[in-house]
Amino acid sequence: MFMAGLMTVVSAHFQLQYPPPRGDFVEDDEPTFCDGYVNSVSNRTTFPTSGGFISINSEHPSWTLGGILASVQNPTNFTQFEDSNGNFQMFLPFFQTTGEGVYCVDVDLASSGISGIKSGANVTLQFVFDGGDGQLYQCADVTLADNFTIPTSISCKNATDAAATPVSTSVAATGTSPSSSSSGSAPSSTTTNNAAVRNAVMGVSGVAGLLGAIVALL
Ligand SMILES: *[C@@H]1O[C@H](CO)[C@@H](O)[C@H](O)[C@H]1NC(C)=O
Ligand SMILES: *[C@@H]1O[C@H](CO)[C@@H](O)[C@H](O)[C@H]1NC(C)=O
Ligand SMILES: *[C@@H]1O[C@H](CO)[C@@H](O)[C@H](O)[C@H]1NC(C)=O
Ligand SMILES: *[C@@H]1O[C@H](CO)[C@@H](O)[C@H](O)[C@H]1NC(C)=O
Ligand SMILES: *[C@@H]1O[C@H](CO)[C@@H](O)[C@H](O)[C@H]1NC(C)=O
Repeated sequence: MFMAGLMTVVSAHFQLQYPPPRGDFVEDDEPTFCDGYVNSVSNRTTFPTSGGFISINSEHPSWTLGGILASVQNPTNFTQFEDSNGNFQMFLPFFQTTGEGVYCVDVDLASSGISGIKSGANVTLQFVFDGGDGQLYQCADVTLADNFTIPTSISCKNATDAAATPVSTSVAATGTSPSSSSSGSAPSSTTTNNAAVRNAVMGVSGVAGLLGAIVALL
């Protein structure tokens, strides 16, 4: 009984549709850094510096999504998604919306204010999703290109017409410094981390909870 309870901490998931993730979706690893894919891949996706979009599939009816960016070749931990002041580099500010199914939203990296965004740069986009029962992560390794147009074969649709509500416009990963070092590999005790994340999210609403939970995972 007790074990069964732990195993169902995260019951709803999301799948990154575009840009494609580091590897095949691994449900059990989604609560960990980059869905358990610690290292960047060599088959990067070309992604527009300006005028891009991202698409996900949500299996949860009510959820929050945000995106953090690392501008190093092979980010292997959350710290590498922070700027020099310890703030997460948000390319997609957290927002809340409703509806299961596909969801697509414009992203313009060039206007995100994140340093290192330029044509030819290799960056990693990490998606942070919360459907109310714990945070989930997927990553896409991309090479930026000016004047690149995403092929029309890539679908960009919303399953519902639900509005999005920004959670916050500015966030800082303050207050907590990592107490244990992690190279970004899956935590040794996933259930403990899930519980910590869930408590953090439920205990503090909004972005403070979400990012507090990210910090808790470091
Ligand atoms: C990269 O190659 C791996 C192994 O063939 C594959 O699983 C993955 O989907 C590819 N990723 C991209 C972004 O094309
Ligand atoms: C980007 O990554 C690719 C694939 O790993 C690599 O071949 C290329 O040299 C990298 N480009 C830069 C500017 O680091
Ligand atoms: C991209 O578009 C701009 C504006 O149209 C143009 O000046 C520039 O040469 C283009 N760059 C490439 C690599 O095609
Ligand atoms: C999906 O909905 C969001 C608002 O929730 C909107 O910003 C976005 O443009 C929509 N995407 C499409 C493809 O209509
Ligand atoms: C993150 O990875 C970088 C590069 O490997 C390393 O220098 C740094 O110490 C790591 N940070 C944490 C908190 O593990």
